[in-house]
Amino acid sequence: MDGLDDLRGKYLNGIGTAATEAALEDLRLAALGKKGEVAGLMRELGRMTPEERQTMGPALNALKDEIDAALRAKKAALGDMALNERLRSEWLDVTLPARPRRLGSIHPVSQVMEECTALFADMGFAVAEGPQVETDWYNFDALNIVPEHPARQEHDTFFMHRAEGDTRPPHVLRTHTSPVQIRAMQSQGAPIRIIAPGRVYRMDMDQTHTPMFHQIEGLAIDRDISMANLKWVLEEFFSAYFGTKVKTRFRASHFPFTEPGAEVDIQCSWSGGSLKVGEGDGWLEVLGSGMVHPSVLRAGGIDPDQWQGFAFGMGIDRMAMLKYGIPDLRAFFESDLRWLRHYGFSALDMPSVHAG
Ligand code: PHE
Repeated sequence: MDGLDDLRGKYLNGIGTAATEAALEDLRLAALGKKGEVAGLMRELGRMTPEERQTMGPALNALKDEIDAALRAKKAALGDMALNERLRSEWLDVTLPARPRRLGSIHPVSQVMEECTALFADMGFAVAEGPQVETDWYNFDALNIVPEHPARQEHDTFFMHRAEGDTRPPHVLRTHTSPVQIRAMQSQGAPIRIIAPGRVYRMDMDQTHTPMFHQIEGLAIDRDISMANLKWVLEEFFSAYFGTKVKTRFRASHFPFTEPGAEVDIQCSWSGGSLKVGEGDGWLEVLGSGMVHPSVLRAGGIDPDQWQGFAFGMGIDRMAMLKYGIPDLRAFFESDLRWLRHYGFSALDMPSVHAG
């Protein structure tokens, strides 16, 4: 039995001083494993006399249980220690103020698109979309623009490259948002009230032109829509957009897809070298418009004897420059962070038709 006391002392000591779970596992194998010391003694029980076995058997079992319990207790203690150590070393002060981070800003064009969308939505116009890479049928033919028309010539329009033998119809980067008129007619039929904001492309680059710019198309089709409705909608829109009553002037003009067509100017003053919208006796051209040409209605699958309507196309970049006093169009697309921070809007500065 003295041998057992030695064994007990040896293992309980070892367990007491073990510092890692791996060390504990080594001790478990050495004592209780198949080839361990306690297991070895148990195998010897078979060679003992019944009397010896009667005392030795229970003693060995007790020793085995004791070592096993010590191993478990120590394992739990080591786990607690590891957790405490992590809690101590990974402590962090959640009450510290956060590091300041630069927030991005909303581009003036995005802001103005949102503003315009909200204002037209208030008048019952839904948003429609079309692709920026458009077939020449949607961009030109369906809009009554004949192949000889100057707007179709290479110097204005970006044509998509076609490999030799590629027989797909020609595609272009849309030169205006007007093809969305046709797509809306085809997909929803009359009556229609939509606006279509988006990017358009023309080969043009100077102080007031960039090869990509933005337009908003408007289209209203119903039984008896007239130029008077167009004028009301636009005056209502400009006054809400600029926050002041804005007069408009319609000048007869020609677009292949309207009959009649008109260019629209808004009232402004140039006094003191700065431009002010809604006052004075100057005029500034801001959009093209007109009654939708019967051939265009027909191309969109709408019967021109039953339905009529107006359409307009307005430059959004110009609208942003006018409202927010931004002098140079090209800066819009240069991604200069200082410019963006100066002219950009906070993400929380959401346009609302109820403001001001
Ligand atoms: N699509 C014309 C342009 O880009 C604008 C326009 C739209 C004119 C609708 C009349 C009617 O210049």
